[in-house]
Amino acid sequence: MNFTLKVADIRKETEDTVTLCFKQPGLKKIKYLAGQYLTLIFRINGRRYIRPYSFSSCPGVESFLEITVKRVQNGLISNHINDMVQIGDTIEVMPPMGDFIYKEGSEFTDVFFWGVGSGITPLISIIKYILSSQTNIRVHLNYGNKNYETTIFRDQIEKLGAKYPEQLVVRNFHTKIFVDESHPNLIQGRIDQDKALQILSETVDGHKCAHYICGPAGLKESVKQAIQVNYGFLANVFSEDFEMVKDPKDFEDVHTQNISIDFEGKQYPLEVSKGKSILEAALHADIELPYSCQTGNCSTCKGKLISGEVKMIGLSKKRDDLAAGEFLLCCTHPLTENVQISI
Ligand SMILES: Cc1cc2nc3c(=O)[nH]c(=O)nc-3n(C[C@H](O)[C@H](O)[C@H](O)COP(=O)(O)OP(=O)(O)OC[C@H]3O[C@@H](n4cnc5c(N)ncnc54)[C@H](O)[C@@H]3O)c2cc1C
Ligand code: FES
Repeated sequence: MNFTLKVADIRKETEDTVTLCFKQPGLKKIKYLAGQYLTLIFRINGRRYIRPYSFSSCPGVESFLEITVKRVQNGLISNHINDMVQIGDTIEVMPPMGDFIYKEGSEFTDVFFWGVGSGITPLISIIKYILSSQTNIRVHLNYGNKNYETTIFRDQIEKLGAKYPEQLVVRNFHTKIFVDESHPNLIQGRIDQDKALQILSETVDGHKCAHYICGPAGLKESVKQAIQVNYGFLANVFSEDFEMVKDPKDFEDVHTQNISIDFEGKQYPLEVSKGKSILEAALHADIELPYSCQTGNCSTCKGKLISGEVKMIGLSKKRDDLAAGEFLLCCTHPLTENVQISI
């Protein structure tokens, strides 16, 4: 069941990023875990748009439900939120989803957070959770931005550093600033494999460290490679992707196909052009299929293959939970003409 939330406050974080603060609904409160996301539903000019945004707030620490949205160039909803949403507006949202959360009961001594730009949102939520509830874990935030002006939550991070001086280590990586001794926690350049390796080399037991990564594909690869090189194994590594990464090579056997969709008792013929997923083609044709993350993570877009052949492209994690014939339509591409999908 969806909720309708009222915007109680809007905070400008940087030139191109705002935080929307929602009041909890009066009757049934929304329960969420630090690191999960909220999916917002908009109707603009008669068309429905659905976008997930990670909570930047932390349950038990902040009373508002907060999400933080950075403009994407030519992006429809991120710019709509930055330009049009006002205090007092109501927005329909889906129940919280996502498994990018702190693993309870683990015996970590050090938890590393690796983020770039808006990737900080789920990280800050989990960081606040750990700092407020687990006193014996050291938290390392490695955060990449152009400079201080574009650093989302700069003040919040500084305040956390002052409140938890023994527990929180912050390293800011800036690509467009000259580093001098007045900025002791500042490192010039991107978070790359060498810099990640240098940070990890100061740790002792890899089994007692966890890593949370949220940022572009390059960041994830660099950090994973550094972990592999430093410890000789990849364990306790968790990541959240804001965008699906597709390898053009996976499309070699994919061609434009005409398929058929059975949705809410109606049959829809649909042309799916090469490169577009079945979900993207359906939304483009105004068939309002259910979806949320569009990264192959949440299962909201699940469909059943009745005939023909399809394949999924761009899944960042293995999905062993899908039954035979079930596919996530946000990353599914038809391979043959006679594809029929039922939702
Ligand atoms: C689980 C999850 C959590 C997310 N949390 C946040 C969050 O906390 N804060 C936040 O700002 N965003 C977050 N996002 C991204 C967000 O959902 C939207 O994808 C983003 O705001 C762009 O939407 P749009 O409508 O403006 O762009 P669209 O109109 O959908 O896309 C316009 C163009 O931008 C490209 N594009 C789409 N998304 C991105 C992106 N993230 N970065 C760069 N280019 C992109 C598209 O390929 C397209 O070419 C999250 C995404 C996921 C899957
Ligand atoms: S929309 Fe989330 S898995 Fe497809």
